[in-house]
Parts: sequence; C-alpha cells; structure tokens
Amino acid sequence: MKKSIICLLLVSLAIAQGFDVNNSDLKMIVTLHRHGARIPSSEKLDLKDKAPNSGELSLVGQRQLFYLGQQLNKDYVQDTPLLSAKYNPSEIYYRSTDVNRTIMSAQCLLAGLYPAQSGDQIPDDILNNKKELLDVNFKLRGNTPVNQIADKFPIQNGYQSIPIHVVERSRDKILLGYGDTCPEEEKWNPENQQSEDWKRITSEFKDQIQRFATIFKLDATKLDLYTVYNYMDIIIAQQYENSQNIPAEYQNDAQLQFDMEILYNLRIHLSLYKTPLQKRTTVTPFLNNLVQVLSDKVSNPKNKLKGYFLSAHDTTVNMVLQGLNLTSWECIEQSFMKTLPKGTFCNFSPTRYGANLIVELRQDKATTKNFIMVRYNGEYQMICDQTTQYCDLDEFKNRVANFVVPNYDEICNPDTTEKPLYSSSNYLNYSILAVIISAFLI
Ligand SMILES: *[C@@H]1O[C@H](CO)[C@@H](O)[C@H](O)[C@H]1NC(C)=O
Ligand SMILES: *[C@@H]1O[C@H](CO)[C@@H](O)[C@H](O)[C@H]1NC(C)=O
Ligand SMILES: *[C@@H]1O[C@H](CO)[C@@H](O)[C@H](O)[C@H]1NC(C)=O
Ligand SMILES: *[C@@H]1O[C@H](CO)[C@@H](O)[C@H](O)[C@H]1NC(C)=O
Repeated sequence: MKKSIICLLLVSLAIAQGFDVNNSDLKMIVTLHRHGARIPSSEKLDLKDKAPNSGELSLVGQRQLFYLGQQLNKDYVQDTPLLSAKYNPSEIYYRSTDVNRTIMSAQCLLAGLYPAQSGDQIPDDILNNKKELLDVNFKLRGNTPVNQIADKFPIQNGYQSIPIHVVERSRDKILLGYGDTCPEEEKWNPENQQSEDWKRITSEFKDQIQRFATIFKLDATKLDLYTVYNYMDIIIAQQYENSQNIPAEYQNDAQLQFDMEILYNLRIHLSLYKTPLQKRTTVTPFLNNLVQVLSDKVSNPKNKLKGYFLSAHDTTVNMVLQGLNLTSWECIEQSFMKTLPKGTFCNFSPTRYGANLIVELRQDKATTKNFIMVRYNGEYQMICDQTTQYCDLDEFKNRVANFVVPNYDEICNPDTTEKPLYSSSNYLNYSILAVIISAFLI
C-alpha cells in the first residue's frame, strides 16, 4: 500500500517536472562561447618567447567561429525560427571581454549567423536621386575621387555590421568574475597550490607528465601543474597553426593528448574554482545576470530580446560549467581515475576553442510554464537535479539564489570594503564581543 502511494507520488512528480520540448515555444537563447584558436605565444616551446601577434585570433580561429555562427543560424534561424533572418537590433545583444581575440570571435560568429547580403538594402530613391547623401563630404588630399561601390547593400558584399559591447577588464565581473574584479584570487591561488589535492592530482598524472617531458625534451623534475599548463597552452595553439614543430610521437598519441588536455583543464579549476567559496563567488555575477536576463524576458512583455551572446575564455566557460554543476575538479579527477560514482554526471571534456554553452528559455504550450534547457557544444545536458534535461525556471532561480554569495565585492575586496578598525560603531561592536568572550572565559 505505502509503496504504491510512493510510486504514484513519484510518477505524478515526474509528470509535473516533465516538459515537452516538442510542444514548447523557444523564447530566448543565452549563449556563452570561448574564442577560436589563437596564435601561439611562441613558435618554439619557449615560455619566455613572445611571438609577434601572439594571442590574437588566428585564421583557423576565425573560421571556427564563423562556422559556429552558421550552425547557430541553422538551429535558431532556419530549423527553429527564433531569430529573424535579417539582423534586428532589438533581438540581439552581444557582449565580449575587452580582448582582441574575443571581440574578433564575436564578429566572426555574427558573420556566420547573419550572412552577407541577409540585411536590408539602401532605398532606390536614395541610390538614384539623392546619392550625395551617401557622401559625408570628406575632403581628399589628392584630386582622384574614390568611387562608390555598386552594391545596394550599405557595405561591400553585403557584410552585416552588428554592435559588440565590452566592459573594461577591471570592471568585467560577469565574464571575468575570477579576474581583476576579484583581487582575493591572488590570495586563494597560492593557497590552492599548497593544498594536498593539488599535490595528489599532480602525482596522479606522474606517468603522463614524464612521457610528455621525454617527448618534448623537457626536464620532468621541473614540471609542475603551472609549467605543464603553460607548455600545453603553446602546444595546443600550435596544433591549430602548423604542427610541424610538434613531435610525431605526441601527435600520434591521442590518449596522451587527451590526458594532458584534462590536466590543463584541471589546472584552471584547481586555481580558480577549487574551494567552495571560490566556486560560488567567482560565478555569482554571471549567474545573477543570467537569472535577471531570463526573468526580464518572462515578466516583461515588451522585451524583444531573443539572443543574448557572450564572448569570453575557457576560464569563463569552466566557471559557468561548474556553477551549473556540470563539472568540477573533483569529478574530473574521479573521471580520470575511473572512480566516478555510477549515475553521476560529469562533463570532463576539455573546453576547447569555440566551446559553447547555450541556455534555452522555453515555455510549455500546454501548461505555459517556463523552463530552461542547456546545451554544451550542442548537446543537451542534465541540469538541476541531474536527472532530466529540463529545469523549471523558478526552480533554477531558487537553486542559483541558494548557490551565489550575497556579497561578491566584500569577499573579493576585503581590504577596501573593511571598515576602519576604531570607528565608534565598530568600537562598540568590539566591546560587546569582548564582554561575550570574557563571559565564556569565566
Ligand atoms: C521531439 O521530436 C524529436 C524529433 O522529431 C524526437 O526525436 C524526440 O524524441 C521528441 N522528443 C520528445 C520528448 O518527444
Ligand atoms: C590588441 O590590439 C591592440 C591594438 O592593435 C594591440 O596593441 C594589443 O597588443 C592587442 N592585443 C591584446 C591582447 O590586447
Ligand atoms: C548544484 O548542486 C548543489 C549541491 O547538490 C545544489 O544545491 C544546487 O542547487 C545545484 N545547482 C544547480 C544550478 O543545479
Ligand atoms: C556591528 O558590526 C556589524 C557588522 O559589521 C554592523 O552591521 C553593525 O552596524 C555594527 N554594530 C554597531 C552597533 O555599529
């Protein structure tokens, strides 16, 4: 009897939680992506070398993001008509970190999403009768005029220009919440490096590091997580550039490459998202912003936004992946050691160039309930309680509210937000504290 009631309860719960994706309206997507391949910092395996243009988005990187844009066009313009085929300023918001390669990545993605000649043309009346309006009357130094293009599109070949917003790095809490806006990371990082976890994980990768050192003729005794990470940063970028400098022994060993990439990713987590406080603090501005963007879409009928795009880094993608419980250094280590408990969800694949997360905001047509689905590199993820690909928006909001810290700035800048020690009110507090403590002593 009891059992059947519980069964019934479970079944009705499942129905209540179940959303029908095929009977839902897609309202908005929030997309976060990493930049494309970048120019390696060195052509050799030299950590001190600074190659010209290192760090900039490479030609391959430009194509990667352009292609991603074309694929998003297929999914969100053609197959599911969410975004208009023509660029519409009130539908799209794009923000990038203030870094050349991420800004360029955003431009490349947009060129794929809104292909050349998809936009509007200049009215015939202007082209035929008021051509002088197309000229701002710039006074050339010489006498040879520059001819107007023949296109009816504003820009040659119908290129579609779209704004990309940036916030200076020192204020970019949403995308770089682990960065300059959180000086406390400078204290957390060295503490993490001294931790037992850091030492244990380094030793778990002992064989890989040894083999890596042999192949690349490096001194294994001088390789720690930091230096391995820096070498890998060069090698990965080189693989997308010209792999001539990379020994065949490494290129032919897919398993070693994969393990080393996992180590690379682990280093990011062990530095930036290691302690529970770090995990919550760094992603707080991002999650708060995400919830705000989703909530406003749901509650404000005038909100026309349909695509909210963010261009950033692997560190940002990892920050959000862990904030959504899709990964953590603990589960990456367990996956590597093959000790991950059965049924535990862990996304331990490396966040390669162009890695992307898409949060889809949907409304169930039958119940009108709002829910979200999350795609990582296109694949739907298990979210919230990790048993389904759907999460009720209100439940998601509750989970975020319970996860984020209420005082990011205070945690990240304790020195500047601290009150003067001997202000009168603090003095009062300290005297109360002294009384309480002496009471305990007696
Ligand atoms: C939704 O439709 C797709 C394609 O038609 C199908 O593969 C999928 O199983 C459907 N999902 C559900 C939950 O019905
Ligand atoms: C970005 O571009 C500017 C201007 O061309 C250049 O000075 C700078 O070094 C580039 N790289 C970065 C990482 O900002
Ligand atoms: C992540 O996991 C924690 C601990 O199980 C849980 O409290 C939190 O709600 C989860 N967050 C999300 C977004 O699912
Ligand atoms: C005591 O300290 C708390 C926390 O810093 C502060 O909110 C409160 O105003 C202080 N109390 C007095 C009496 O000033």
